Amino acid sequence: MTKASSGKDSGATKPWQGRFTEATDQFVEAFTASIDFDQRLYPQDIQGSIAHAKMLAHCQILTNEEVDKIITGLDQVKKECDAGQFKWSIALEDVHMNIEARLIEIIGDVGKKLHTGRSRNDQVATDVRLYLRDEIDVISLELKRLQTALINLAEKEASTIMPGFTHLQTAQPVTFGHHLMAWFEMLMRDSQRLIDCRKRVNSSPLGAAALAGTSYPINREYSAKLLGFETLAENSLDAVSDRDFVIEFMSFASLLMMHLSRMSEELILWNSAHFEFIDLPDRFCTGSSIMPQKKNPDVPELVRGKTGRIYGHLMCLLTLMKSQPLAYNKDNQEDKEPLFDTIDNIRGCLKAFADMIPAIEAKRDKMEQAASRGFATATDLADYLVKKNIAFRDAHEIVGKAVAYCIKQHCDLDKLELSDMQQFSDKIEKDVFECLSLKGSVSARDHRGGTAPNQVKKAVKLARQRLK
Ligand code: ARG
Repeated sequence: MTKASSGKDSGATKPWQGRFTEATDQFVEAFTASIDFDQRLYPQDIQGSIAHAKMLAHCQILTNEEVDKIITGLDQVKKECDAGQFKWSIALEDVHMNIEARLIEIIGDVGKKLHTGRSRNDQVATDVRLYLRDEIDVISLELKRLQTALINLAEKEASTIMPGFTHLQTAQPVTFGHHLMAWFEMLMRDSQRLIDCRKRVNSSPLGAAALAGTSYPINREYSAKLLGFETLAENSLDAVSDRDFVIEFMSFASLLMMHLSRMSEELILWNSAHFEFIDLPDRFCTGSSIMPQKKNPDVPELVRGKTGRIYGHLMCLLTLMKSQPLAYNKDNQEDKEPLFDTIDNIRGCLKAFADMIPAIEAKRDKMEQAASRGFATATDLADYLVKKNIAFRDAHEIVGKAVAYCIKQHCDLDKLELSDMQQFSDKIEKDVFECLSLKGSVSARDHRGGTAPNQVKKAVKLARQRLK
């Protein structure tokens, strides 16, 4: 982003200067300008202008020669922008007027015809939609890359046993692959939401002009088609004022960040000396300036932290739109910085995660040891008794008493002698030890969506198909 030059040095005249009798106050000029942040829309602004110009020629509102000149001029402006040579001016307020002024400088008076039948109001809505559509496609791919990384790791860790938690207390053993596939499912919903959001982003406001449409014989379908828009915004007032699509995208982004934050939290816990379930490679961690021993999981911590600002941006947009009367209001200029910041940050978070996940090293022994503490297979013992014709509630009671006994003895259930166990129920026999084993416990949950290694492998296979 290049800093725009101030009005004083630019010497630019504003396209709307006609009805004004004095120059804009210098502070007001800088205060109302959006050029320092909306210049990133230049590729889409030029793309939109070319489509609009072609439509004007198609409808014989401008001649083919005029439109050819306009397009040649716009191509040159694009080159200047690409090369970082374009001189953005605050006096020209925003990306739209900067580009138009430069076009006129390059091709002369014919450039003044580009804005026929159009307003900055439908222009900016078009630009933001095109920009967001492009970004959605990049984000979709990055999301897929992360999902693929999760699937690959889940496949590798399909039989790795770890404790599953509820209330952050050891609940039942699960497989690490199963846990990773839970993350995959969260992201699958995000990706579906993004696809759905794209449909409503991909609608053309072009032709709505300032708010009421235009008196020229335009063809809105024509420009929409050139821009690859799937639908037309059907009402001109709504077309220039609607920012629902930005809010929808930010809702998607907020849910995505909520998921990444939950994943971050678990990675941070697992990476700690108290869990020791995983090792995050050094290249994803940083050190402490005072404590020489530290290796901090900064990447997941930062992702967790960034979640707050993304929620903030969603709240910002909802509040921005609340109570706005139809149609366009300058308020809407405030949609851009939160949107751009959201895009930049979720792209960063997704990249960090997609790069980091394949590098995670599971400490399988530590995970299994942890699962063997905390009576993770107590439910299996209850289920064992149910299979021997004891009602579940009674079985629950029996196992509860056995656990209490173990706590007193400082041992685990599978460390009790058979005779010890039989004092709780005479239905307990030698085969109980299999059900108390971690492997037996996870392998028993062998149905669709269950944690058995078998099922994880099936889920991995299905997930690969779903991603296609
Ligand atoms: N910079 C403005 C925005 O971002 C462009 C539209 C300005 N329209 C107007 N009528 N002032 O919303």
